[in-house]
Amino acid sequence: MSSEYPLEIFDIDEELNVRLLHDFTGERTGFVQVGPDKWFLPRKYKDQAANFYNLQVRPDDTWVVTYPRSGTTWTQEMVWLIANNLDYETARRIPQTERFPFFEFSLFVHDEIKSELLKLNAGNPEKLKLVEQISRPGYEVLNEMKSPRFIKTHLPFSLLPPNLLDVGCKVVYVARNPKDVAVSFYHLNRLIRTQGYLGDFPRYWDYFENNLHPWAPYWSHVTEGWDHRHNPSVLFLFYEEMNKNLPATINKVAKFLERGPLNDEQVSSLVNYLNIKNFRNNPAVNFDLHRQIGLLNEGEEEFIRKGKNGSWKDEFTPELSRRADQWIQRNLEHTDLRFP
Ligand code: A3P
Repeated sequence: MSSEYPLEIFDIDEELNVRLLHDFTGERTGFVQVGPDKWFLPRKYKDQAANFYNLQVRPDDTWVVTYPRSGTTWTQEMVWLIANNLDYETARRIPQTERFPFFEFSLFVHDEIKSELLKLNAGNPEKLKLVEQISRPGYEVLNEMKSPRFIKTHLPFSLLPPNLLDVGCKVVYVARNPKDVAVSFYHLNRLIRTQGYLGDFPRYWDYFENNLHPWAPYWSHVTEGWDHRHNPSVLFLFYEEMNKNLPATINKVAKFLERGPLNDEQVSSLVNYLNIKNFRNNPAVNFDLHRQIGLLNEGEEEFIRKGKNGSWKDEFTPELSRRADQWIQRNLEHTDLRFP
């Protein structure tokens, strides 16, 4: 603990670490837990925590903060387009990962994974550049980025710069119900090489429920977001509501970003651009470039997957679903957050 960084960081128990490394093959060293909430992150975080925590925020920063698989990519694109006068041409031309960097992704690019990717892409300067890009700590990228900056993170508020909500930044927080998050994250954990999950869904749920997977604990994360919902710097959204009524969400976001109101034609063009059928075929957002450098495992579901409310039904057995519902009930006792 220091004035630079207030939380303690612990290596997890060695026996558990060995089990996790066996199931999550993207990490090669191990995992840590941070502070009283026991935020779960790769070991690399231990060396870089203070740099993330002390990023110099700027008043004109716009952040999208979510638990993974809560509709982050979708929200980022909506936010970016609304803030940039619906500049579809630039949005299609420049990959979202460049317009809207992912703050802590490099924590998940273990040095060994980076070497493997460099080897895989040897001789192709464009692809090698992308490998270097995803391995660069977000605080370095953001320090060099011109304002206004757009920033994606799955870090919870308590690991973000403590003045984030005091300087005028705009922060959009999106929450999604935990059963859909778990199923979606399970598929991503299998898809993306930096997680490299090898097990089945019941085992994955076990890790999820016990807060033993990256960015956990889910409940601390969403309740921190929820508890900030009245802060004028924060707009709190539910994935479920976006999915049910996208035009209403677009209007809410435009108002929050002080870019509204949009006229009917603008709203409907944005709804069309963000429609999952178009979204999954849009190489600027569908992680196509990441597939090309070998970051995505073949034979798994796509990064932009089903995009529906209630996909949890595809993976949960009735018994597992009952167990999950009990876990949800127990956790809802500590908050007035309710999913739509
Ligand atoms: P599913 O796996 O349930 O389909 P994130 O961007 O935070 O990783 O979230 C990914 C989830 O958002 C995935 O959920 C993905 O399919 C969904 N998603 C992505 N783009 C979407 C869109 N345009 N419309 C609806 N859902 C979308």
